[in-house]
Order: sequence, then C-alpha cells, then structure tokens
Amino acid sequence: MTRTYVIDSIPGDGIGVDVTDVAMQCVDALAERHGFTVQWRIRDWNSDLYRKTGRMMPVDGIEQLSDGDGIYLGAVGTPDVPDDVTLWGLLIPIRREFDQYINLRPMRLLSGVVGAMPGIEELDIVVVRENVEGEYSQIGGRFGSGTDGEFAVQESVFTRKGVARAARYAADLAAERDGRLVSATKSNGIIHTMPFWDEVVAETVKEVPGVVVDKVLIDALAARLVMKPTSVRTIVASNLFGDILSDLVAGVAGSIGIAPSANLNPERRYPSMFEPVHGSAPDIAGKGIANPVGALWAAAMMLDHLGEKDASKSLTSAFEAALADGIATSDLKGSATTAEYAAEVLSRLKEPA
Ligand code: NAI
Ligand code: MG
Repeated sequence: MTRTYVIDSIPGDGIGVDVTDVAMQCVDALAERHGFTVQWRIRDWNSDLYRKTGRMMPVDGIEQLSDGDGIYLGAVGTPDVPDDVTLWGLLIPIRREFDQYINLRPMRLLSGVVGAMPGIEELDIVVVRENVEGEYSQIGGRFGSGTDGEFAVQESVFTRKGVARAARYAADLAAERDGRLVSATKSNGIIHTMPFWDEVVAETVKEVPGVVVDKVLIDALAARLVMKPTSVRTIVASNLFGDILSDLVAGVAGSIGIAPSANLNPERRYPSMFEPVHGSAPDIAGKGIANPVGALWAAAMMLDHLGEKDASKSLTSAFEAALADGIATSDLKGSATTAEYAAEVLSRLKEPA
C-alpha cells in the first residue's frame, strides 16, 4: 500500500502563492520518485477571502485542518488589510489551536550563496522559538482614545510549562549539536518575565546532560550574530525575540528568502505547519522573482516530519545543488526568475539518484 499524506496547502497572499506552487510541484515530483502520494487540500484562505467575508478562514477552519497530516503555508498579508488582522485571523490561531509550541528555524550558509558579512565561510544556526505565548498576547487594550492621556497596554504571558518545554526541546537539540545553548534574554530591562525565563531555562537545561546554557542579552546577541555568527549554534528564544533573530540570521546568511520555519506540535497530537520565514513581500509580488528556497526548505522539513527522510534529503540536495551551480534569484544577486530556478530544482530532482 502506498503511503498517503493529506496536506492542507494555504498559499495565502503575494509571493506566498508563487513559492507554494513551486514547493507543491517539487513535493509531487519527489512523491512519484519515492513511492508516496500527497493529497493536497488547497485552501483559498487569504486577504481576498477576508475582503469578501470579513474572515481570513472559515468559522470551522481549524476543524477542517484537524484531520490532515500537516499544513503547508505560503504567507499572508496585504497592504490594504491591517497586518494584525491577517496574522491573528489565520496564522496565530493555527499555531495555538494545534499547540504548535515549537517554531524551528534552521539556517546555514548554503554553498554558492554569499552571506551579508564578508569573510564568513560557514554558519549553522538553529533558532528554537517559543511559538504560542510570550509577547504575542491579546491581553491589554487602548484607553482614553482621542484624549491627551491616551495609552496602550499589552501584557506578555510566560508560563512555567511554556518556557520549560521550549527550553527542553532546544536543549535536546543542542545535545545533538555542540552542547551549547544560547538563551536570548533581556532580564536587565524586562524585570518580571525575563528573569523568570532565565530561571526556567536554567533549571530545564540542567536536566539535560552535556548541555550548558549561555544567557545572552538580546541586544548584544544581535550584534554577535552579525559580527561572529559562527560562535552560535543553537538558540532558544521567546516568541518575539525568536522572530526577530531568525530574520537577522537569515539576513546574515544571504537573504530572508531562503529561511524555513516549522511550527511543530512535537507530541503529534495535532498537525504541524511548515512555511517559509518571509512574508508576502508586496514589493515584489506578481513580478515572478520571489526566491522559493525558504519554501522548499520548509517543504523538506515537512517531508522529514512525515517520515519521508530520503525525499527530504533529495529536496535539500537539489535546491543546494542549483545554488552551488550559480543559479539564484535576484535577492541572492542571481538573475533567475522563480520559474527558472524552480525548473532547475525540478530537473535535479528527476536525475537518477
Ligand atoms: P517580507 O518578508 O514579506 O519582506 C521583507 C523584504 O524581504 C522585502 O523587501 C521582500 O521583497 C524581501 N523578501 C521576502 N521574501 C523574499 C523572497 N522569497 N524572495 C525575495 N525577496 C524576498 O516582510 P514584510 O515586508 O515585513 O511583510 C510583508 C507582509 O507579509 C506583511 O503584510 C506582513 O504582515 C506579512 N508577513 C507574513 C508572514 C507570514 O505569513 N508568515 C511573516 C512575515 C510577514
Ligand atoms: Mg517574522
């Protein structure tokens, strides 16, 4: 019996549509070659749907996704709809309802790609971002609108369970890498939640043999990642810090267009979601020049999660080989369009192993 996976594909807006199309083509090619089937359930949940219905996804959207084996997302966001509407109407409910509490964001300096910083020849960083709590909260409000005393309050929520499980996941990962875990903090300025974060991370990491934790203030860490990116391997960070650091690391490694992201429910009680790190890039949408590498790398992480390890490796090797051969989109100083780059990856996937 062939292995069959039901994957909900949400191309979304802008370049999300272009890169998802490339990723699905490559996954289909791999499925044929590696003897499995992917049944895509394409969801047109995007800003257009919001303009028509006032919702980014149907009322029972979460329920519709719940019996699938995974979710593949392009990106959502468009200039004429507020970004908090697009994010909180789709992406954040999926992450929370499916308890995708780990956001795994690996980055390497890929061969053929010139990083943003001269002289750096290798870089291999994984950001483990806490994905369902922290600074992203709905607790708070705006008060005194229209008065001189107008103010806004937004509460962060850090729970012992939430911090500990992110730290545990990151420490286990660090144990398989170089045994050093960098914890991003700001406990000098943020005096309640961040010392709590530090404490829970330290207690959790102590339980993992062979791993030491280095807590680094986020501002200094930002500078270190630019100046000495090779000195960091595995990072654990809160929701907001992890988001910022992963774009920073991707930028250092050449482009945010190459960065992948896996929103994981490690217990596999719910489907996990895979997406590139980047957004819908309205500035280049419709031009056919988006870099699909982040989307392809995310697809490779999805295949790995599904247990299709060989297919996952083939996909990573194919997009890396194309880059190593000098084929790249304009964000990486190449001249290929999205379609030309995709064709090169597909041709490498079809070569005999
Ligand atoms: P962005 O990631 O869309 O773009 C930032 C810059 O990087 C732009 O200059 C863009 O052209 C470039 N870029 C991004 N991806 C690229 C790719 N694959 N190839 C070549 N260049 C690429 O971030 P921005 O501009 O802050 O946000 C645009 C919209 O996307 C907003 O509405 C935002 O809310 C949304 N967004 C959605 C996300 C998601 O759905 N997961 C994540 C981040 C932003
Ligand atoms: Mg981001």
